[in-house]
Amino acid sequence: MIGIGIDTVEVARFRDVIARTPTITERLFTDRERAYAARFRDGAPRLAARFAAKEAAMKALGVGLGAFGFHDVEVVNAEGGAPSLVVTGVALSLADERGVTSWRVSLTHSALVAEAVVVVEGPTVREGETQ
Ligand SMILES: CC(C)(COP(=O)(O)OP(=O)(O)OC[C@H]1O[C@@H](n2cnc3c(N)ncnc32)[C@H](O)[C@@H]1OP(=O)(O)O)[C@@H](O)C(=O)NCCC(=O)NCCS
Repeated sequence: MIGIGIDTVEVARFRDVIARTPTITERLFTDRERAYAARFRDGAPRLAARFAAKEAAMKALGVGLGAFGFHDVEVVNAEGGAPSLVVTGVALSLADERGVTSWRVSLTHSALVAEAVVVVEGPTVREGETQ
């Protein structure tokens, strides 16, 4: 494991931000992420969890807000619902510099809070090999 990041977002605060600046959803989320959230009666907790995933990804890489664009780390869901990250652009370059070869993400959300954990991994080191 190269890094781990975690983030919590309060859904009510997040909802207020969206209500105040509706265009922010386009700035923060990809078309796929917005389309996924739109499938549910209340998409806010799901968007909040995706925002948490982007912040958790920054922590996992050891960088801060502004280091890469929000679209650079995208949450996509497999048919069974399991989430994964699609990483592009500056985030991908930062990950490459650190030797990251794979990403893991886990999300959870209630009406109150949304959370994400992101783990970045490097190549497997086998017994007898040096890193
Ligand atoms: C994963 C599961 C336990 C979620 O628990 P929950 O307490 O209802 O909800 P939480 O808020 O904690 O978690 C929701 C998140 O779990 C994640 N999730 C859903 N299915 C998942 C799975 N199979 N593996 C890992 N994560 C999963 C998603 O990211 C989801 O959020 P999202 O829809 O916004 O992306 C529940 O959806 C489940 O049992 N899914 C199993 C489905 C399954 O096994 N499918 C495979 C056969 S098709």
